[in-house]
Amino acid sequence: MPPSRTPPQSPTTLEFQERDRFDLDYGTNTTTPLAKSGFPDLPNLAHGKPYMASWTSEIQQSFRLLTSSLGPRMPLYSFVDIGCGKGKVPIVWRLSCEASGIRQRIVGLDYVASFIDIAQQNHRKVFGNDGEFIAADATDFRYETLGNGLIAYLYNPFDNVILDKVLRQLRRIPCVVIYNIPTHADCLPAHGFELIHQRRGINQNQETKIFSNHRRPASEASMPRL
Ligand SMILES: C[S@@+](CC[C@H](N)C(=O)[O-])C[C@H]1O[C@@H](n2cnc3c(N)ncnc32)[C@H](O)[C@@H]1O
Repeated sequence: MPPSRTPPQSPTTLEFQERDRFDLDYGTNTTTPLAKSGFPDLPNLAHGKPYMASWTSEIQQSFRLLTSSLGPRMPLYSFVDIGCGKGKVPIVWRLSCEASGIRQRIVGLDYVASFIDIAQQNHRKVFGNDGEFIAADATDFRYETLGNGLIAYLYNPFDNVILDKVLRQLRRIPCVVIYNIPTHADCLPAHGFELIHQRRGINQNQETKIFSNHRRPASEASMPRL
């Protein structure tokens, strides 16, 4: 699949298309960022990043890439957004699944309980039910309970200390990691993850690296390997 590019547009137009427009289209509440000063006191707060929503087209591009590379195996994988905030990524992922006729378990987890409430409300607005959102610290969650094949999505949620702890768990499961704004991508190879795709645009929100810790499926041979 050739790398897709967002056509050149002003930063304001891009921000509108990639964040505000989603809420306008679906009546959700995902766009407004939240600084950590607005978070409750949590044990790993010093290691975490503030809330900000992923860009819509970045989520969709990763979905298309994995759908084409995993083919009929896609529904065998569960999807988890680690640090899901207000739930935009699981919602966009489910919309993409529905549009492609794919049934997949889709989960979001975040250590800020009020984000989980908002994520459920957002999911209810779009799909009429709460979805599967879990209030938990990323280092406490037992990822193997999601099944024996995982697509883990990270939008720069935390520093290398937490990422290292999370990867210690993920490495035990056949896992694909989608890492948007991949600040600590150098942590992944040490845990047995191989870079299988990368792309970047003019904005930092358009940089994504995708890693896998298991043998590439046959159809994945067509994935760009940069
Ligand atoms: C940049 S936001 C990403 C939000 C969402 N994934 C998206 O792309 O729209 C990072 C999120 O990670 C969460 N987070 C940070 N550290 C965490 C941890 N240790 N456990 C669970 N969630 C965490 C924050 O609360 C925040 O909502």
